[in-house]
Amino acid sequence: MKGDFERYLSAKATVDDRALDRDVLGRFRADLRGRADPHILEAGAGTAAFCRRFLSWDDRPDCTYVAVDTDPALLATAREEILDTARAMGFEAVLVDPAEPGFDVDFDVDVAGGTPVATIRLSGPAHVDVHLVTGDALTVASQGRWDALVAQAFVDLLSPADVERLVSGVAADSLVYFPITFDGGTAFAPSHPADDAVLDAYHATMVGADGHRLGARAGRRLRTLLPDLGVDLVAVGDADWTVDPTANGYPADEAYFLDVVVDTVADAVRGRVPDETVDAWLAARREQRKAGELGFVARNLDLYGRRRERE
Ligand SMILES: C[S@@+](CC[C@H](N)C(=O)[O-])C[C@H]1O[C@@H](n2cnc3c(N)ncnc32)[C@H](O)[C@@H]1O
Repeated sequence: MKGDFERYLSAKATVDDRALDRDVLGRFRADLRGRADPHILEAGAGTAAFCRRFLSWDDRPDCTYVAVDTDPALLATAREEILDTARAMGFEAVLVDPAEPGFDVDFDVDVAGGTPVATIRLSGPAHVDVHLVTGDALTVASQGRWDALVAQAFVDLLSPADVERLVSGVAADSLVYFPITFDGGTAFAPSHPADDAVLDAYHATMVGADGHRLGARAGRRLRTLLPDLGVDLVAVGDADWTVDPTANGYPADEAYFLDVVVDTVADAVRGRVPDETVDAWLAARREQRKAGELGFVARNLDLYGRRRERE
């Protein structure tokens, strides 16, 4: 049985798939294809939606793929979903569980600072060792040497100093891809009189308790921050989340995705916006969602760059 956040991440996958900028993704894929046996790090991997997308590409290279998240429950779901998806795609998949006696496999990968919880060895269409690792992605990132760093819907949680640590372990001329990076726009349709009060307060919460996170301005701030940190941008594109009702309701599990988004916004702004305003906004949005009348857009950017040679 999936937890609420796991179901939310699964429900978000079809929204992400529609949103990704195909040109930016294409540049990243083309450059990754040219690498021999790259070590790929995915930071804040959640239930490994991006890893499963990567496995579905017909041009994915043989590689070592390390997916790090602080939440072991999400990685347990990731393990099952990667096994199912990979087998359905014709991979042979062998699970190596460090909890099993005899786990002494010496993989050619450095996950210092993290705890490996499972390795999935895939063969067939490509040879891919997927390592699922719990821990702080910034620590694992900064202690390794990575040929590609991916972080989807993650970097807005970080401060500029965190981003510096995250990219510090990327080898010279290697790839940095931050798809679905929030960039400060949230809109619901139809409009509601409390939208400005609620959504401005929501964006203000994203800077975190210490006020240091990139938060709602993550996408635009990365445009200047990444070059300052030695990552030259190769391609940047819009990757807005758009969920619209259809005559048959919402696609896939996107009604659930909307429910979580609406509740998350309302919870975040309590204490900043009068309770009666939040209650009225939330009740209207829930009603519209149930009636299949609620639309939603969030502005995101996809950013792809390459690490400059170190001076
Ligand atoms: C919004 S979710 C995105 C998950 C996934 N990338 C996706 O797009 O479906 C952010 C993820 O970052 C993880 N996370 C937050 N801080 C982290 C950290 N310091 N190190 C590793 N993971 C972290 C959370 O547990 C969560 O799974």
